[in-house]
Amino acid sequence: MKRIAEILQAEPSLIEMTVRGWVRSFRNDRFIALNDGSTINNLQCVIEPENHAQDILQSINVAAAVEVKGHLVESQGSGQRVELQTSMVKILATADPEDVKKTVLSPKRHKLDTLREQAHLRVRTNTFGAVMRVRAALSFAVHKYFQEQGFYQAHTPILTGSDAEGAGEMFRVSTLDPKNPPLTEEGKVDYSKDFFEKEANLTVSGQLEAETYAMGLGQVYTFGPTFRAENSNTSRHLAEFWMIEPEVAFNDLAANMDLAEDFMKYVIDYAMKNCADDIEFLEQRLENEDKQKHAAERSPMPLRDKLKFVLKNNFKRVSYTEAIDILRNSKPNKKKKFKYPVDQWGADLQSEHERYLVEKHFECPVILFDYPATIKAFYMRLNEADDEGRKTVRAMDILFPGIGEIVGGSQREERYDVLKQKMHDMNIPEEELWWYLEMRKFGSVVHSGFGLGFERLVMFVTGMTNIRDVIPYPRTPGNAEF
Ligand code: 4AD
Ligand code: MG
Repeated sequence: MKRIAEILQAEPSLIEMTVRGWVRSFRNDRFIALNDGSTINNLQCVIEPENHAQDILQSINVAAAVEVKGHLVESQGSGQRVELQTSMVKILATADPEDVKKTVLSPKRHKLDTLREQAHLRVRTNTFGAVMRVRAALSFAVHKYFQEQGFYQAHTPILTGSDAEGAGEMFRVSTLDPKNPPLTEEGKVDYSKDFFEKEANLTVSGQLEAETYAMGLGQVYTFGPTFRAENSNTSRHLAEFWMIEPEVAFNDLAANMDLAEDFMKYVIDYAMKNCADDIEFLEQRLENEDKQKHAAERSPMPLRDKLKFVLKNNFKRVSYTEAIDILRNSKPNKKKKFKYPVDQWGADLQSEHERYLVEKHFECPVILFDYPATIKAFYMRLNEADDEGRKTVRAMDILFPGIGEIVGGSQREERYDVLKQKMHDMNIPEEELWWYLEMRKFGSVVHSGFGLGFERLVMFVTGMTNIRDVIPYPRTPGNAEF
């Protein structure tokens, strides 16, 4: 059976076709706007009311599911090229108008907050249909890119015994009875009696395991769910998000940046080409949303111009040290407009600083690299100390307008002794990550990789401003409904 996306591209014909979908509206007992999820656009199905039983006409309500038969004709009205001259309507499932009225299915503009409370219904709205189709296209583009480039997908574990980022933001996994756990002699919970006979958690990143696979397969990538128990209730953080992590043997940091930039451009271009109708709709949605905002908070460009801008321009590569100088001398810093004033080399960058660099100073995507060793993860490749004795690591973060950090990556520390020392200095337990360290003994070469937060990419491409609105069922502090 043809779906509506395809039907709307077809030429008028006398051949009868069958279409199934959900009613979006029913006007004048004559015009059914039918949507089946394949496109933002509805198929207009024209019926002659006198040819249909009264009980059928009364059941053609918003949100009801119907099957129609008819043939495609050139549309008499404006707004669509073709419409279905409908001879038969069958009600597949009804929807009570009184119930529909109380939900986001009712045909009027709903607040995104309201849609979030009805996340089980919101995919039937124009906005979420569009976002989820773009999300699916981006997901496909990710695999397509890496497969075309000769990467292998590595399925890294979700249940792990290690903290890949060394940040301690993990969800514990345990089958012990929380009311009566076994205790050690010191009175602590005895995890040696737990399912894995040790402490276990949901993964925060597949990187460390991906590194071991890059050392055999050369070029690998992961694409899976990751979990962070960080208590960040922001529009850019989820407790469960999807991450793409390529890892490449023999790549140094410059090659890693080249890969990240090429990859980002490829997937954005793919979405623009394959989701043109949805992105056009989302551009209009963003424009409407912006009308409610102060001028300073509005997006500086229409959505499609912003995406084209990213495709056309080189990402600006700037060292952390240069960035700190720019920030220190910036107007908002001098006027004490930053919540976290920038005065010292070594300070961690906050999202207000990242956004200043991207949105105000450079006005294009930025790759920041060579960060102070103390503010980055233990596995990053240590540089020679600079003239002033400052230690940096070969880290890179990609910052996007409106988003801030979208990618975090690095060249990895491949030297056994240096890594062992760093793990010791940063209190990374060797008994947990012995295998990660041991890999450095056997043909351990220069290698690099990065992590792209998939939802942040979907936000960028769809122009949605809250990360809760680009994933079907968001998990955030205090919320695991659905
Ligand atoms: O910078 P992060 O923490 O880096 C890593 O996890 C590395 N292991 C990646 C690597 O080198 N293989 O996370 C990578 C990206 C961030 O840039 C951000 O886009 C996204 O993951 N991210 C989140 N997205 C949504 N919610 C959160 N809580 C996120 N935390 C990170
Ligand atoms: Mg990061």
